[in-house]
Amino acid sequence: MAVPVNQALPADQYGVVGHPVAHSWSPFIHGMFAKATAQNLVYRMFDVTPENFRRDVLKLFAGGVRGLNVTLPHKQAAAELVNELTPRAARAQAVNTIAFFEDTTLLGDNTDGAGLTSDLERNMKVELADKRLLILGAGGAVRGVLGPLLERELREVTIANRTPHKAQALVAEFADCGAIAGCGFSALRGPPYDVIVNATSAGLQGEMPLLPAGIVGSATVCYDMSYGRGDTPFTRWSKSLHAARAAKGWGMLVEQAAESYLLWRGIRPDTQPVLEALMRHA
Ligand code: ATR
Repeated sequence: MAVPVNQALPADQYGVVGHPVAHSWSPFIHGMFAKATAQNLVYRMFDVTPENFRRDVLKLFAGGVRGLNVTLPHKQAAAELVNELTPRAARAQAVNTIAFFEDTTLLGDNTDGAGLTSDLERNMKVELADKRLLILGAGGAVRGVLGPLLERELREVTIANRTPHKAQALVAEFADCGAIAGCGFSALRGPPYDVIVNATSAGLQGEMPLLPAGIVGSATVCYDMSYGRGDTPFTRWSKSLHAARAAKGWGMLVEQAAESYLLWRGIRPDTQPVLEALMRHA
């Protein structure tokens, strides 16, 4: 049957699954990407509980959805659901992006690490090679970013966590990727690190891990993977110690989204206008 040339094609469907998900900025970000790259797509939020994750996600793909972002608490479940993992998602054993290809393959990727390294390197102009890096936390957020960070030829990577054995377990898992050590917060010592990334969820409860002051100096770049209005407990602490930079995770959020968009649409959108718009709206 001939299709009239002026008949609008239905938009391709994408979205984010999480629980909760209502606070997500992803529809705003992907909406801007779609407009800027002239792509006909819709991006929606799907609140899915852990019990229903598998059933509901498969239903979404059966219903025509072509790609999903996956956020808390489903990233590990998503790694188990897909048929195939990209090397970086296999390394993380966590998935934040699923692409549905026409040959019925569900491909799981993890763009969180690329999001963090892009924000540090491209946006903040931080050179990571030969630097000493400290990561605070040993949960899912760290798992997602460790592989790409360890590819950067850092001189030293330390993972410090409130529960030290979890940091040591991650170190054992990633030991083949480079020089990496794990400890509790109280074992941390100066000299100041070049870069400190906060990947704990302490800030969500308004808390700040108890850290020795000597690990921050006037050249230290402090990066909080969480974001929101104003200072976080971690950026406030960093500023009080006169760190060179005290950044929040807005750039990582936009950069990981751009990497997901690239997987789905084959185009990496310009992230700068979106970051600027977020700073105006958030
Ligand atoms: P995510 O997926 O966000 O990483 P997670 O897997 O639950 O979430 O991990 C949360 C991380 O924040 C953990 O490293 C946790 O430390 P523990 O392993 O000791 O639980 C850390 N965390 C949470 N609240 C904290 C607090 N008040 N102080 C310090 N660390 C905290």
